[in-house]
Amino acid sequence: MLENKFKEDFAQKAAEAFKSQYQDKYKEIGDEQVFSASFIIANIEKPKDPSKGRFAFPVFRYGKLLGDNPPSIASKISEAISNSENQLITVTSIVGFINVQTNFEIEASETIKTAIRQDAKYGSSDIGKNKKILVEYSSPNIAKPFGIGHIRTTILGHSLRRIFLKLGYEAIGLNYLGDWGTQFGKMIVAYKKWADDSIAGKETVEDLLKLYVRFHGEAEENEDLETQARDEFKKLESGDAENKALWEKFREISINEFQRVYDVMGIEFDWITGEAFLNDKMETTIDAFEKANLVSQSDGATIVDLKDDQLPPVLLKKADGATLYLTRDLSGYLYRVKEYNFDEMLYVVAVNQSVHFQQMFKALAMLEDAQFVPDENRMSSKGKHIEFGMIKFGDKMMSTRKGHIIFLEDVINEAAKLAKEKIAEKTPDLENIDEVALQIGLGAIFYSQMSVRRQKDVNFKWEEVLSFEGETGPYLQYTHARLSSLIRKFNSPMDAEIDFSLLDNKEEKRIVELVADFPQAVADAARMYEPNMIANHLIELAAAFNKFYQRKNADGKPDKIISDNKELSKARILLVKSVQIVIREGLYLLGIKAPEAM
Ligand code: ARG
Repeated sequence: MLENKFKEDFAQKAAEAFKSQYQDKYKEIGDEQVFSASFIIANIEKPKDPSKGRFAFPVFRYGKLLGDNPPSIASKISEAISNSENQLITVTSIVGFINVQTNFEIEASETIKTAIRQDAKYGSSDIGKNKKILVEYSSPNIAKPFGIGHIRTTILGHSLRRIFLKLGYEAIGLNYLGDWGTQFGKMIVAYKKWADDSIAGKETVEDLLKLYVRFHGEAEENEDLETQARDEFKKLESGDAENKALWEKFREISINEFQRVYDVMGIEFDWITGEAFLNDKMETTIDAFEKANLVSQSDGATIVDLKDDQLPPVLLKKADGATLYLTRDLSGYLYRVKEYNFDEMLYVVAVNQSVHFQQMFKALAMLEDAQFVPDENRMSSKGKHIEFGMIKFGDKMMSTRKGHIIFLEDVINEAAKLAKEKIAEKTPDLENIDEVALQIGLGAIFYSQMSVRRQKDVNFKWEEVLSFEGETGPYLQYTHARLSSLIRKFNSPMDAEIDFSLLDNKEEKRIVELVADFPQAVADAARMYEPNMIANHLIELAAAFNKFYQRKNADGKPDKIISDNKELSKARILLVKSVQIVIREGLYLLGIKAPEAM
């Protein structure tokens, strides 16, 4: 459970109030669970208008059960709570909602103390204890460069892994490389025909890309190339030594290159695997479907029909014996079930693959049906496609086949260069300017991918993502640096003497609320698989802080955070510290570094 005294206090009192107000009914109902404190806590909401209360509890679901109308229920329960002894909360009722205000002085001191005491652990919880979640992300294709097309899965998935880790899950990050498939037949044909001997052994991913693009260019004129490619891939699948060696070479060149990019980006995985790893597991998969009587033949191909579900058939094996992307994914699922026995598995993959995942989950469910797997042991429903929209780059879409590809590394370098120019204007003598510039450049790129709900498309525009103002990564990083600098100027230890009742203006109140709600934002982000919820929370907090920072007194003079009023300054700097903790930890969850100065 999240640590929140106020919600607990409310839930307990509301549970008691239900009991005392509806004694007779209560006995008849039998199902007491909906009146329990834990149920109430789980159904607390945020009021649409934050000025109405810190949180709200709707009572509509009790109308029928209690034979009373919701407004009357809400008012009886609030009255009973108001009459009980309590100093943490005050409640009011309005048309079926109970709105709860907290005692601000207590909330401020509780929140700030908790954040500072827990520090890097603030926002964590144990809701994921003993739960295992696999998060698959990035998964670029070998023999193609790491393009901007794989950036969103990489950043979203990496963030989700960190969010689940924070909530106590055993979260395992997987990178499932596209290291098998017909494109290798094309690469092999191209390599055998056109490779430049003078660079043999020193080829880069760019060289491989050139070959790939040339193949597609020439194949438009010469259809025979496609046939040759299919043949070379068949040879590879049946273990031909020369082709295998070429495949290994392409794979190694690519992996080294990818790893370099991951290191720059600070992206971590627990297991880097790939499609080829499943080659020797495919027969078992096809067998399982055959034994379950789920396969049929169609023009020589082995398929699983999904007509009843309005889905295209699963092609397990082509007429020529070749297996497919989906066959490998099914095998991978079954393998991971055995190896990890996960509670959940997330595939962080673009929305244009959603039919693929529907086919896969459906086929797995049919397999379990046929095997009479009891409900409690079913695994097919534990996989989820965490889909996301496309990324456009200055309004252009990209296609690898034509060589219209934007290299991720170029984007990172460009971002760092532009960030450096900006920093140099503000802080020309910053010691570690190159390091910070890279952090800001990456912050801009990372944030842009999480600045909207994941289902939405992102349009990446330099001027927007690199701005130090508005909803951007650099804005959050800049705010963090500002917070750090305040703390460097005046660092006051947390002690019993601090008088938090001195924090009483509306800017301070808003900050306390947002710091207090951070743990909930993290939990919500996990529940919705949506890092954007954390990103938004940080933006709101940074905006609230910057308002506070620029606050003026009644006389129009700046109301400085650190002033001659020592007592007030002490309380305020601790508030500042709690904000710094939330921004730093929140950025960490998004995969973004928080510089101390910039
Ligand atoms: N390599 C694939 C691509 O780039 C993505 C793999 C997604 N994961 C999966 N299990 N199918 O399109």
